[in-house]
Amino acid sequence: MVEINRERLSNLLYSEEGKFRQSHPKSFELYQRARKSLQGGVPMLWMIRWAGTFPVFVKEGKGAHFIDVDGNEYIDFCLGDTGAMTGHAPDQTVEAIKNQVSKGITYMLPIEDVIWVGEELQRRFGLPYWQLALTATDANRFAIRMAREITQRKYVLVFNYCYHGTVDETFITINNNVPAPRRGNLGPPVNPVVTTKVIEFNDVTALENALTTGDVACVLTEPVMTNIGIIHPEPGFHDALRRITQETGTLLIIDETHTICTGPRGYTGEYRLKPDILTLGKPLAGGVPAAVYGFTQEVADNFHARLNLEDSDVGGIGGTLAGNALSVAAMRATLEHVLTDAAYKKAIDLSIRFSMGVEEIIAEFQLPWIVKRLGCRSEYWFRETPPKNGGEANDAIDSELDRYMHLFSLNRGILLTPFHNMALIAPDTTQDDIEYHTQVFREAVKTLVTN
Ligand SMILES: Cc1ncc(COP(=O)(O)O)c(C=O)c1O
Repeated sequence: MVEINRERLSNLLYSEEGKFRQSHPKSFELYQRARKSLQGGVPMLWMIRWAGTFPVFVKEGKGAHFIDVDGNEYIDFCLGDTGAMTGHAPDQTVEAIKNQVSKGITYMLPIEDVIWVGEELQRRFGLPYWQLALTATDANRFAIRMAREITQRKYVLVFNYCYHGTVDETFITINNNVPAPRRGNLGPPVNPVVTTKVIEFNDVTALENALTTGDVACVLTEPVMTNIGIIHPEPGFHDALRRITQETGTLLIIDETHTICTGPRGYTGEYRLKPDILTLGKPLAGGVPAAVYGFTQEVADNFHARLNLEDSDVGGIGGTLAGNALSVAAMRATLEHVLTDAAYKKAIDLSIRFSMGVEEIIAEFQLPWIVKRLGCRSEYWFRETPPKNGGEANDAIDSELDRYMHLFSLNRGILLTPFHNMALIAPDTTQDDIEYHTQVFREAVKTLVTN
């Protein structure tokens, strides 16, 4: 197996940084100006965590492509980190947005379209009752509150290196076998060990031990982990998870925000999981802020029994703009016309081709790397075997190599998802886009291994 020469990597990275600066003068200029009014020169902290030495400012995009202020064109495999999994500005969503905007954006009253949305969510995910939020973070926060209220238990259980949005309870990892705040946890209200139990994904024994004490309100999990790389459940894991949560009176919350890439019904619908609560956000309204959480009849009944409607506006669940008319109209159009069976089929076929292309190059250069895929999401990893859990996946992170692959791609018009080597395929990504990526990936690898 080939080993990466670190000195060579560091030199290559340096030269790609120079190339990046040269080809993005206008972005650099805007960045300098932005730094005078925006912290870090960006409206949201994560936007400085790209591989370039400053953020690329976008001019406009459509479908799976966008152009920056310097006129550089990109194939977008990041797609707003799933927020634009539909492709940018899908026609039918844009039409519905235009139509609704002229009729009013937010009323704190429902519009008729929301009933269509509720019925469609029932059909896709098999859960009878739904509520709306603006972000997946909020959907998760509200789901946790419901679970705590119903069970009157204090703990939440999550899996090591999960990500579910900026939900305080979830910023916990296992450090030398001991649960501890996740590195970088900013201003936590309390040490998360007070609120949360954390175990490794795919560890049924640890799950049994953690839940038999009867003090866990809910397990919050992605059905396939995606935020520390794609980690599939081992055979039988979801059955065990459902059985043990049921036996211990623990509610099961499945977060489909990223795994909606599996198919039109998410992983839950495609693999017939039976969560008590399901949460979903990001691409639901084609990029307009919108999220949903759905639950069983039993959860609805138990929650309703504890709900004092008089106090519902200060109960910690909901928000002024949640369920606003614009989000609802965009969500209806996106579900009805954009996130369709046909669109998924096309994107998934291309994602398979993307993965095969990368695998062929890995084999050609005998690299100890692998590719993982879930629906239209594909990712390569710098390790020889699929990680079983978050701890193993985290140990395989090679930030410098990550950065090089990202920057090399970016300099050649390919945007990968930051924080890992993830490519999301939109329905209007083309076969040529995929072939071009394979070619650029090959060039990148070649620079790394050729003497
Ligand atoms: C699985 C999962 N859930 C929830 C979220 C939070 O989404 P948002 O930042 O839109 O609230 C994310 C964000 O990456 C996510 O990956």
